Amino acid sequence: MTHRIALVRGDGIGPEIVDAACQVLDRIGGEYGHTFEYANVIAGGAAIDLFGEPLPKQALEKCLDSDSVLLGAVGGPRWDTLPGHLRPERALLGIRKGLGLYANIRPAKLMEDLKDASPLRRETADRGFDLVIVRELTGGLYFGKSGRYQSEDGETAFDTETYSVKEVRRIGKVAFDLARLRHGHVTSIDKANVMESSRLWRETIHALAKEYPDVPCRDMLVDNAAMQLVQNPAQFDVIVTSNLFGDILSDEASQLTGSIGMLPSASLGEGTRGMYEPIHGSAPDIAGQDAANPLATILSVSMMLRLSFGLEKEAAAVEEAVDAVLKDGLRTRDIARGGAFIKGSEMTRALLEKL
Ligand code: IPM
Ligand code: MG
Repeated sequence: MTHRIALVRGDGIGPEIVDAACQVLDRIGGEYGHTFEYANVIAGGAAIDLFGEPLPKQALEKCLDSDSVLLGAVGGPRWDTLPGHLRPERALLGIRKGLGLYANIRPAKLMEDLKDASPLRRETADRGFDLVIVRELTGGLYFGKSGRYQSEDGETAFDTETYSVKEVRRIGKVAFDLARLRHGHVTSIDKANVMESSRLWRETIHALAKEYPDVPCRDMLVDNAAMQLVQNPAQFDVIVTSNLFGDILSDEASQLTGSIGMLPSASLGEGTRGMYEPIHGSAPDIAGQDAANPLATILSVSMMLRLSFGLEKEAAAVEEAVDAVLKDGLRTRDIARGGAFIKGSEMTRALLEKL
């Protein structure tokens, strides 16, 4: 079977890690009899340089025409001073919105072999954790009304957080369904003591929870959640939260695992098409040095195989290969904790051998 994948290599380390992930896909294709066809999409900083805009129309069309999108990373200091609508990050937001990918799934699991790299206290790390953040991705503060005006204080800017019952319900369902699959529970995170949009969020989640009597659900305020994540991450299973809170908490959770270079993510909508990307950014400081850890992007491919293409065996094979190289003690610099480390391409090669 042929699967058509739109590749947004992007900026910084994006191209190297996407190429690593394609090598893994090709190997999986060879072993299991699938064909993966790639279409290159130029978006982000690269598109600003070439076309003067971060997400040209044809880039979004190519994504819409694919079975799934694999994205490396976009952005870098070169484009940091551009006005908001011309920044590379716009490409990301445009693809999410354009493809209707409202559910961002960000697993954060402490891997046995990487416990030493976690900043958690030893006894907390020893308890381990395995949580998934379900972040709303096409609404909230990222897509509300924003602008600037002259007030009596002078230049003034605003952004607004807007959520409808419909938006909260559909992201809530993703979280409850996932928690049911995991035989787990849901923590809904908001700021209902202050924000009206959070109060609607909370009411909507409570109403939805009645439809899932088998899935325990609780609320938590976001400031407390930020603290609880560091103090006792093992208490969480599925977290569901808004676009902005999910952005922040997912960085925090990823750091607790010891390396942001290890974590994949999936963005999904109504159909099977998704966008898959590592959680980390474009790391311009190490771009082109073959130092980047390809594992987050490779694990993103595993999520794509499972969630968009229904290829469970193949997805598991990739995950086992990742576990195996870590068991062998192979580390890229980001997870080496000052010990010996290998190049990104060496990590990819070692992993291909395990497949
Ligand atoms: C992320 C990133 C993006 C976001 C940026 C690059 C726009 O931080 O995917 O978490 O805020 O969503
Ligand atoms: Mg982020």
